[in-house]
Amino acid sequence: MASGEFDLVIRGGTVVTSAGVMEADLAVSGEAIVAIGHKLGPGRREIDATDRYVLPGGVDPHCHIEQLSGGGIMNADTFETATRSAAFGGTTSVISFAAQHREMNLATVVKDYAALAAKGAVIDHAFHLMVANPDRQTIEHDLPALIRAGHRSVKVFMTYDRVQVQDEQLLDILLVSRQNGALVCVHAENHGLLKWMGERLVARGYTAPKYHAVSHPRAAEIEAIHRVIAFAEFIDQPVMIFHVSTAEGADVIRQARGRGVKIFAETCPHYLFQTMDDLDLPGLEGARMICSPPQRTASDQGALWQALELGDLQVISSDHAPYRMDETGKFSAGSRPNFKQIANGMPGLEMRLPLVFDALVSRAPAERRDENLMKFAEWTATAPARIYDLPKKGALAIGADADIAIWDPSRPVTLTDELHDNTGYNPFRGRSITGWPETVIQRGALLVENGQLHAKPGQGRLVLREAGPATQPTGRLAPEIDPARNFGAKLL
Ligand code: URP
Ligand code: ZN
Ligand code: ZN
Repeated sequence: MASGEFDLVIRGGTVVTSAGVMEADLAVSGEAIVAIGHKLGPGRREIDATDRYVLPGGVDPHCHIEQLSGGGIMNADTFETATRSAAFGGTTSVISFAAQHREMNLATVVKDYAALAAKGAVIDHAFHLMVANPDRQTIEHDLPALIRAGHRSVKVFMTYDRVQVQDEQLLDILLVSRQNGALVCVHAENHGLLKWMGERLVARGYTAPKYHAVSHPRAAEIEAIHRVIAFAEFIDQPVMIFHVSTAEGADVIRQARGRGVKIFAETCPHYLFQTMDDLDLPGLEGARMICSPPQRTASDQGALWQALELGDLQVISSDHAPYRMDETGKFSAGSRPNFKQIANGMPGLEMRLPLVFDALVSRAPAERRDENLMKFAEWTATAPARIYDLPKKGALAIGADADIAIWDPSRPVTLTDELHDNTGYNPFRGRSITGWPETVIQRGALLVENGQLHAKPGQGRLVLREAGPATQPTGRLAPEIDPARNFGAKLL
């Protein structure tokens, strides 16, 4: 290529592609990656990546932004603050929720969230359609139309009074998703068990934040994962199990995948790096770490890493769900709430990649470095892009969007409460990690450099999606659904 024809050349870094890890230059023209190789010609702009890792920008497919929670509380971030924080943490694409509550019209909800994102988002984004009002208008009209318009994933809660769907509603949603080409994402916990335990604990005076962990028994997750898998297998509709927290939950998924059920699953940094003991703090401090499902045990952490290694879990998302430690968030029910009254969720967009990088890459023996760099890219960028059908995202490849994070692998960082979101605290405060994404690029343009954001609110693009391979049913019909085996009844 003639001199100066590239817009940008990232020179001399360790480039992580799906094919392997190599010392190479990477060139960008316009918004796309156009070359990866040795001694590439000059660019109009050059970045020296000597001693740096060049990785795909992260894809975070589970974050709650500017959203009314399951408990009815508005979260702390706007699209601007959340996506700014994502960018500083090396993430260049998010999938957040267009969150319907009861009585809301789904089409209006999507329009409203898209307008908020268009005004504030600094990085590219897509939406999951969160359905909490599966009435005839939603099921027969709005949901099919919105899926076909490019919002190719649907989210349901099996718990939380305000947003929970009943079993028969879940079946409706699975079927509509099958007919129109969407993946169904599920918060899987048994509502009755949580309610029963929560009420008994509070009635007996066990009200401190740490009892939140006790009030969400592992059995609640295990039962709900079993149930949603049974339904998914029955309807033959692919599902994504959100935020798996227990070894047994991962086992149930492994068994289902083993018999050919089309199930995907994710876990999150707080299940990999925290335990229920992190909620056991003086006074109400443990409220910072209240999220659902709760953190579990060290042995679950080991099982979740193993499940990632085995491919039973494919994705590490943040489940960013930010609430401030004040009356707007965690303490919206007053200054002395019981654990049931404290908003569920914590910030995660900015810390997701640095925490996982530290664990997988910085702490790995030298001989495992390349393998672990590829796993890091796979679990945090490539797999979510593939599963949610963002074909230009999540990998460094010719023709892909030039969404790139350049990491300093030896930068030591002690985590403080200073993040770029609007939550005011960092659940991982005090931890020392190594490695940081120092330069972040979206579609060829600098997003973050030298600790500064170079982006305007609203510059992120809404990405509409096709019905990708993850949304396609297997074609194996349950006997009661199959007209060849159900006396000819046509049910799909
Ligand atoms: O506790 C959490 N993670 N709250 C956010 C809502 C959800 O369950 O995904
Ligand atoms: Zn959830
Ligand atoms: Zn969530």
